[in-house]
Amino acid sequence: MEILEVYRERVNSHLENYLSSISPDNSYQSELNHIMKYSVLAGGKRFRPILTYTVANLFGIDVKKVDSSACAIELIHIYSLIHDDLPSMDDDDIRHNQPSSHKVYGEAQAILAGDALQALAFEIIASDHLTSPDIKVKLLSLLSLSAFKMAEGQSIDLSIVSKEVDIDLLNNLHKKKTGALLNCSVMFGAILNPYISKKDLSILDSFSNHIGLAYQVQDDVLDVTTSDEVLGKRQNSDSEKNKPSYPSILGLDGSVKKYESLYQEALDEIVFLSVDEKPLKNLTVKLMKRSF
Ligand code: IPE
Ligand code: IPE
Ligand code: MG
Ligand code: MG
Ligand code: MG
Repeated sequence: MEILEVYRERVNSHLENYLSSISPDNSYQSELNHIMKYSVLAGGKRFRPILTYTVANLFGIDVKKVDSSACAIELIHIYSLIHDDLPSMDDDDIRHNQPSSHKVYGEAQAILAGDALQALAFEIIASDHLTSPDIKVKLLSLLSLSAFKMAEGQSIDLSIVSKEVDIDLLNNLHKKKTGALLNCSVMFGAILNPYISKKDLSILDSFSNHIGLAYQVQDDVLDVTTSDEVLGKRQNSDSEKNKPSYPSILGLDGSVKKYESLYQEALDEIVFLSVDEKPLKNLTVKLMKRSF
């Protein structure tokens, strides 16, 4: 099995076990528990936790010590998607090839599931007995700040619907709404190594900022070019809601060139890491070539 698949299956099984463990009273399976499982276990590429596992592994961190961080970042991501699809936000009815959470469980339960997943993301790190308190504080602090930036980005995103904006504004928004959690995914892998050098930290920080912006530019491109079936969500969601996007400002070709050059910059940076960067390089190439 490819290492990517190993990490994907690993985070899937940890997420499933975790969500099953938080409702010890089996006599009453709450609506919240159903909607959390429906939303989290539906699939998704799991690139954020895969990034965390991959970076941690570069430094030889025991994979068991990475599980809580990997799950936490994915829980925040899924919470952001549940809220992103709500009628008051992007109003999208399909996610991961199934009806969006609010379409099945209603808006109130969807909002609460997002709230709950966000809270549990912090809990899963706080209660990890394999990680030292000082590392946990660093992880929790970065996760909090990244989730805040994501919300800030989403706020800007929704405030510019039908407006004319320039590329600088869009860059700032994309770095916040998507780049911050990608940065966090990579830096989690770095923080878990207590002996990491300042130089490696700074290379990984810059690497993650480049792939973070690239990832959202690419999402905007895929929104235009890729069918509902392949995306698992609605094609043309951005243009139908008059959302400024990379293709709407730079055109499709310009947008593809932009994200490819950002990934290339990221690839050029990691050759200077003090460890063998090959696994991270392979993953970055996979991200660049993703078709959904
Ligand atoms: C979608 O992210 C929303 C963005 C922030 C770009 P992903 O493409 O990573 O979502 P998954 O793979 O469906 O979970
Ligand atoms: C979402 O951006 C970013 C989030 C923080 C969830 P989009 O609204 O473009 O994501 P999709 O296309 O619905 O997945
Ligand atoms: Mg959105
Ligand atoms: Mg959306
Ligand atoms: Mg999108």
